[in-house]
Amino acid sequence: MILPIVAYGDPVLRKVGANIDANYKDLQKLIENMWETMYHAHGVGLAAPQVGKAINLFIADTSAFDDETYPEMKKVFINAEIIEEWGDKWEYEEGCLSIPHIRENVSRHSNLLLRYHDENFTLHEEEFSGIAARVIQHEYDHCKGKLFVDYISELKRRLLKNKLINISKGGARVDYKMRIPSGR
Ligand code: NI
Repeated sequence: MILPIVAYGDPVLRKVGANIDANYKDLQKLIENMWETMYHAHGVGLAAPQVGKAINLFIADTSAFDDETYPEMKKVFINAEIIEEWGDKWEYEEGCLSIPHIRENVSRHSNLLLRYHDENFTLHEEEFSGIAARVIQHEYDHCKGKLFVDYISELKRRLLKNKLINISKGGARVDYKMRIPSGR
């Protein structure tokens, strides 16, 4: 089932996602719905807060990037925790399904070590780099209540202010379903 994607301005995007256990209600169904929702919207990653659930869960599939430098990654991340980040910081133009039509360069470390559970609640400690690390860092932030626009300069954010307000009022034209913050 395709779920509506929460738009910028909704408080759920600012919550820290709670860790969950294997008994979390309808977890497999939620993961399945998140994949369907992400692919429908042509996303490369999706975090649970973006479908209205303030929990520490995100998915990512980097196969849409034609970057042959790094192997493709398709994974479910539950209760993820970045143990360490290292390597040169590099800029990449990020976007977000909750913040349509805005793309900005964000600088992040090239490598990270992540501890997480997969969809079967098997524990992993794994290193990621390149585009896989980038998508993980972006989605991980979602589960911490953080958005990529938080990283841009004060000046740029001022310039984007009206666009962001427009998104929060449902003014962004997208070909996927969005949930607009209530009371707007
Ligand atoms: Ni995002």
